Amino acid sequence: MADVAKKVSGERLVRILPEAIRAIHEVIEKHRVTEEEWLAVLDFLTEVGKQDEFVLLSDVTKTSVLVDSITHEDESGVTPSDVEGPLYREDPPWREKPVKIYEEYEGAEKGDVLFVHGKVTSTDGAPISGAVLDVWQTGPDGGYDIWDERQPDYNFRGRFGVEEDGSYEFQTMVPKPYTVPTDGPVGRLLEATGQHPWRPAHIHVIAEAEGHETLTTQIFFSDDPYLENDTIGAVKPPLIRPLKKHEDEIARRGLDAPFYNCEFDITLKPATPAVQS
Ligand code: BEZ
Ligand code: FE
Repeated sequence: MADVAKKVSGERLVRILPEAIRAIHEVIEKHRVTEEEWLAVLDFLTEVGKQDEFVLLSDVTKTSVLVDSITHEDESGVTPSDVEGPLYREDPPWREKPVKIYEEYEGAEKGDVLFVHGKVTSTDGAPISGAVLDVWQTGPDGGYDIWDERQPDYNFRGRFGVEEDGSYEFQTMVPKPYTVPTDGPVGRLLEATGQHPWRPAHIHVIAEAEGHETLTTQIFFSDDPYLENDTIGAVKPPLIRPLKKHEDEIARRGLDAPFYNCEFDITLKPATPAVQS
């Protein structure tokens, strides 16, 4: 409670908390929830905390998406934000140009190479030369580095700067749909309620630049079977991009098979100057 009191103003807490409790009481009354059932709920929440799955619970109940959309509702003209999810890792490696965010690893499924490129601009169209992108995704087997001991540490993760004209490009592999973690209490909840655990393939992006608000978002791909029913409900149509297959330029790219391109321009919102008191 100490942190809530620090981050949420007392005035908001006093207004919101009683309403939230009233809403829970109404549901309990409406459904005549028994003591045994309520204790099971408390046990479940205790387990969620012990296993550090509260963000995951917020995600699969689509609460994270709701709060994200309220937080960013006034942001027309900028790239839509999206939820971070629980799988970001602090201190990802800095990737030098030409940027490649992965190393091949033993036993990997043969995936398709993907070049993601675009331009980072401000809302007035000016390129942001100092922007830094931080990206993370699953590999061609649908697994994050933290789940897959075959992968080098921080594989398919990295930070890098854009060019003077705001443009960027990084080499990765086409990600696959994957399931959110199902081996803990949240996974058991999904199973018990019949909610599937799948997310469509995506790449997470955090774009930062001085004088601009930091954007956290995700890139999705056309034709993915889970675009309409992402288990965390995070798909936004303006974030869906086609993957364009290239049979040309294979040798020039130093590759031995066709590869894919995806264009993703990013528009950041200028930061509101702090009000001087
Ligand atoms: C993710 O996209 O990394 C993610 C989001 C919500 C729950 C689990 C994973
Ligand atoms: Fe993800």
